[in-house]
Amino acid sequence: GYFIEPYRAQYHFSPEENWMNDPNGLVYKDSLYHLFYQYYPDSTVWGPMHWGHAVSEDMMKWKHKPVALSPDKNGYVFSGSVVVDHKNTAGFGTTDNPAMVAVFTYHNMIRENAGTNDYETQGIAYSLDNGDSWTKYEGNPVVKNPGSKDFRDPKVFWNKITESWTMLLVAGDHVQIWNSLNLKEWEKGSEFGKNQGAHGGIWECPDMFPMKIEGTDEVKWVLLVSVSPGAPNGGSGTQYFIGDFDGITFTTDQVEHKWVDLGRDNYAGVTYNDAPNDERVFMGWMSNWEYAQDTPTEAWRGTMTVPRKLTLRKVGNEVALFNYPIRNFEKQVALAYPESIIEILPTRKRILPLKYGNQSKIQFTLSVPNTQMYFRNKNGDSLSVAIERDKKRVIFDRRKSGKVDFNENFSPGIQQMKIPNIPEGPIEVVMLLDHSSLELFINGGQYVMTNQIFPSEFFRALTIVNNSKEKLKIEDFTEHKVERVW
Ligand code: FRU
Repeated sequence: GYFIEPYRAQYHFSPEENWMNDPNGLVYKDSLYHLFYQYYPDSTVWGPMHWGHAVSEDMMKWKHKPVALSPDKNGYVFSGSVVVDHKNTAGFGTTDNPAMVAVFTYHNMIRENAGTNDYETQGIAYSLDNGDSWTKYEGNPVVKNPGSKDFRDPKVFWNKITESWTMLLVAGDHVQIWNSLNLKEWEKGSEFGKNQGAHGGIWECPDMFPMKIEGTDEVKWVLLVSVSPGAPNGGSGTQYFIGDFDGITFTTDQVEHKWVDLGRDNYAGVTYNDAPNDERVFMGWMSNWEYAQDTPTEAWRGTMTVPRKLTLRKVGNEVALFNYPIRNFEKQVALAYPESIIEILPTRKRILPLKYGNQSKIQFTLSVPNTQMYFRNKNGDSLSVAIERDKKRVIFDRRKSGKVDFNENFSPGIQQMKIPNIPEGPIEVVMLLDHSSLELFINGGQYVMTNQIFPSEFFRALTIVNNSKEKLKIEDFTEHKVERVW
């Protein structure tokens, strides 16, 4: 028998039970995508952190695995990354059977409670059986605390410029870049960010990678840094910088940082190491520290975004990071009969029935400058998305979208996303609606908003209002069912 739990995401990853936050150790090896994650197996709120584990062939359908890493005398196991040590630089495996090496933060509660500020250090562990069992390195910690209260979230990758390992760490208000030949001995090379970016809260979960600007041979480096609080719509969010990396130091000529996602529920996102064809695939935690521990789910708490492909694109004279569901997402998308042509006169509206409710992908091309869309259900819950190209903004309103009163920070007001660089003419709008989330992708992922919602029933109608002076005509409106992966 199959029973739908209230709010359980049907096509996003969530643990079967208990608390999850950040994605950790995203790595591809031997035809499998691994997803580790911050996990507390004993409760639905945050606690002594472990690494949960799941594997997938396509990043859509996941197989749950036993807990990979548990706290030990050095502390809780906080966020980090996994590399495959192909050259056996650490000596844990062989070149024929290379070790997976996890690099993570130890958070030592005893030292924190004792009032010290050196309680975060970095440790490593290895697996020779594709992540099923792990051995912690006896020489842990491999990076000691330099006297920085927040000192965590190592992202390690193979640095082709220096032929060595590079580790990004966050230390409160900046990123540190460390280097190693063997994953055991590390040396600090540079720092970035004290005078750049958003500093409304501490920096967390860095990531950095090279990308070709689409359609050119120009390579730029992208640095992701989560910050909490300090996101434009409140609480947790992920900013990015585009720049250059000489193997040791990252620099940016960007005047202002930008944001990966302007909704309220995409945090601590990082990308896969070793993904095939040099693809950059990103996944974030669909929540926000302002209310994450109070969301109204029961057996579990925490869901990931759909995996998203990152691309760098020139729009006008600016380069921007786009994020958009990976191609494999389409494997879950069932065929659907498209709606006939929709025509709406200025100031008028049209109500469309939603056949698949909160398990759908809605897609269409929008040409007029100003529209508002409402999702409705029979209990009167309503969720509104207004795309106001004339005012260069999107307004997202979940204040009446269902359960919102579990925490006053969940929906104190509307959300606004500025879209200063949105092109004229037809643009694509994609909305992924699952039981407890809406992901909005505008113009192929140029502007994205990810938000949790907790409606009391499926949304069964979508009203489109034409707030433009010209007639609205949509020729390709389609609502697809998205097959469950759960
Ligand atoms: C980000 C974060 C990380 C930390 C982890 C602890 O959400 O605060 O900085 O490693 O969560 O669970």
